[in-house]
Amino acid sequence: MSVAAIKKSPLIEVRNLNLHFGAFHALKNVSVSFEAGQLIGLVGDNGAGKTTLIKVLSGIHKPNSGEVYFDGEKVREFHPKLAIKFGIETLQQSVGLCDNLSIARNFYLGREPIKRWFGIPFLDFKKMREASTKVIRTFGLRDNVSADDLVEMLSGGERQSIKIGRAVEFKNRVVIMDEPTNHLSVREREHVNELAQQMRDQGLLVIYITHDIHQVHKLADRIVIMENGEKVTDVAKHEMTADELEEVIRCGGRVVEKASEVAPS
Ligand SMILES: Nc1ncnc2c1ncn2[C@@H]1O[C@H](COP(=O)(O)OP(=O)(O)OP(=O)(O)O)[C@@H](O)[C@H]1O
Ligand SMILES: [Mg+2]
Repeated sequence: MSVAAIKKSPLIEVRNLNLHFGAFHALKNVSVSFEAGQLIGLVGDNGAGKTTLIKVLSGIHKPNSGEVYFDGEKVREFHPKLAIKFGIETLQQSVGLCDNLSIARNFYLGREPIKRWFGIPFLDFKKMREASTKVIRTFGLRDNVSADDLVEMLSGGERQSIKIGRAVEFKNRVVIMDEPTNHLSVREREHVNELAQQMRDQGLLVIYITHDIHQVHKLADRIVIMENGEKVTDVAKHEMTADELEEVIRCGGRVVEKASEVAPS
């Protein structure tokens, strides 16, 4: 059998993606692939196209041209159900939880378990409470937090823990973290970063979007840098230091693909 025949498809593969917002060219011929069990740092300045790229992967934006493959299967239709179909959870600091509902209800948002009483369907609060209590404890929330507490009582880091717990419990395969540690304390930031690594260790693909190259360089297996809608760098972590990558970002990506390709001075 040839090597090509036994090679497994990447979990996500993007080929020559272009996306325009009116006259504005937001994604320019982006090609990138991501494997399961990797933690990818997706880095770049404001407006580089990071969020736009992950919105295409979640089915929120439809590209104008190019292809996306999940497990080798070409995506034919871009719609928000794509994320559910392929098991993609996107964690954003500001969205994803309803403040006025309990932790237990948030945990099951959109997939509430039902039990029947004389054929009449009821929400299964016991099940929601039990499963979310387990997650609260596993993911290190304070001991005095209960599954019945409203999410509005939680800190930013605790909210992230609920979303991460949900992603793991529902066996998602891809977790996209868009600036997951913004506005968090140092301790909470460390906790969220540990969870990102745990998810990677459990075999999930974690795409970690940030402006902080030094922070993500410590966690990631690979760093992808975007600039002005283009992918400008894609290297294994050991190939470039955080300082070298920061220089790439500072120079607007106008540096060759890999450190090893830089001509000696
Ligand atoms: N819905 C939209 N309509 C028009 N322009 C958009 C839309 N969404 C994003 N853009 C533009 O596309 C560019 C890329 O935006 P994007 O949100 O992907 O950047 P980003 O890399 O995530 O930046 P940040 O680090 O600030 O979050 C920006 O110039 C932005 O203004
Ligand atoms: Mg963004």
